[in-house]
Amino acid sequence: MQKFNFFIPRVLWLTGLSGAGKSTTANILKTEFDQMGIMNYLLDGDILRQGLCNDLGFSEADRYENCRRMAEVAKLFVNEGYMVICASISPYRNMRQMIRKRFSDSQFIEVFIDAPLSVCEARDPKGLYKKARAGSITLFTGIDSEYEAPANPEIHLRTDLETPEMCAQKIIEFLQSVS
Ligand code: ADX
Repeated sequence: MQKFNFFIPRVLWLTGLSGAGKSTTANILKTEFDQMGIMNYLLDGDILRQGLCNDLGFSEADRYENCRRMAEVAKLFVNEGYMVICASISPYRNMRQMIRKRFSDSQFIEVFIDAPLSVCEARDPKGLYKKARAGSITLFTGIDSEYEAPANPEIHLRTDLETPEMCAQKIIEFLQSVS
């Protein structure tokens, strides 16, 4: 029997520190959506920065532009009926507010992928915290560049307390609750 899903297209905007688990959660979520037959597209900051955004650095202005482009691409896909997962540090509250305004009510879901800086730094999957502490890279989020935690996200997940699979499941449960 054919399976139907009633999830309407939305943008799931995963924000959090480097190493908090945005990409890991996003990839698990993508696999879940694929298995459920939900058309979806994953936009990851690390990947966009290799191409579409490879002219940008990590100043405040460049991060705004980076996230603006991600949001514009997300909008194209949402308008075509895709569930879009965005994984981006997107460190500023105003920036995320600006992005939210580009979408209609309830289309934009802010997901705070939260883990204490000490945990992210201990994970240090790309060795970037070590470099930032040593001063060989600058403007690193959480070290010498600010991260403004969401005040009122639709979903708040603690990746130091729960597995990425549990976090992805909570996002799906949220979508089910609002569908
Ligand atoms: S954002 O702040 O503009 O939203 P984005 O999510 O696209 O950032 O990219 C963050 C990724 O770039 C990190 O996961 C990390 O791998 C890499 N990176 C390199 N330099 C920095 C830096 N100074 N601050 C944060 N991330 C950095």
